[in-house]
Amino acid sequence: MAEAAAEAERVLRELEPSVARLLERHLAAARDWLPHQYVPWSAGQDFDGPLEGTAWTPDQSRLPRAVQDALVVNLLTEDNLPSYHFEIATRFGRDGAWGTWVHRWTAEEDRHASALRAYVHARRAVDPVALEELRMGHVATGYHTGLPTPLHTLAYVTVQELATRQAHRNVGAACGDPAGERLMARIAADENLHMLFYRGLFDDALALFPDAALTALADVLDGFAMPGAAIPGFRARAARIAASGIYNLDVHLEHVVAPLLRTLKVLSASGLGPAGQRAQERLGAHLERLTSRAARARELFERMKAGTLATA
Ligand SMILES: [Fe+2]
Ligand SMILES: [Fe+2]
Repeated sequence: MAEAAAEAERVLRELEPSVARLLERHLAAARDWLPHQYVPWSAGQDFDGPLEGTAWTPDQSRLPRAVQDALVVNLLTEDNLPSYHFEIATRFGRDGAWGTWVHRWTAEEDRHASALRAYVHARRAVDPVALEELRMGHVATGYHTGLPTPLHTLAYVTVQELATRQAHRNVGAACGDPAGERLMARIAADENLHMLFYRGLFDDALALFPDAALTALADVLDGFAMPGAAIPGFRARAARIAASGIYNLDVHLEHVVAPLLRTLKVLSASGLGPAGQRAQERLGAHLERLTSRAARARELFERMKAGTLATA
């Protein structure tokens, strides 16, 4: 236990110069934006309740069902920011360059849920009562990664930021509303910079601790689930989101896992010890398994679309 804590501390200490360098790069690349400018306020109207406006009804939403599902999942995922802040603040620390990053990252992330919520309410895009009930339950449950080491956390956030970027980008492209597309592209640009920060850091971790970093990545990819997986009714929503092509195994493979493994050159890394070689083999096997699962899922969606399979 004491040994694990000392090792975690060593990893964080040795990575700190990389954090400082990548933070500087991040701050130079990040473009400030104003969430209130992205919300179509003129489309909005008062709701029922104290203001005695109009209650939400399903016919008010112009968004396809799968887009509504994806928006709810993305928004609730963003809503759990207090838990993510706690996770990385306690894992990475609140001092020095790590602390500066943790707080800056939190400030940037905090824009996402507030802007998305304002957008869905102005557009009456989803049921606001159900959304609020889900948010209360989801945030009250909290989110615990249970990941054992800082390298596991680093691997997880690298994958997660990239997956989130893709999810926001694809919902924007599918929503059929230029205002929504603009907002979600803007959020996706934030997530992309977060991913670049973490991927750069993970790259340095691979150079410093190749065996432990590869093992962490293999563990994380094998058990990867988006933090929104705990949302009630997630499986049914995820199935509709997958069938619509917004986020499914193909997207996860082509836009998240394959480019990440390629950029980090993990499958061709040499000079590894036995643990690193085992992890490398697991990563290769993971990629193969994901490729065949994605192909099977694609086939299933095609049969569903062709109407040769009952979709009820
Ligand atoms: Fe976000
Ligand atoms: Fe992010």
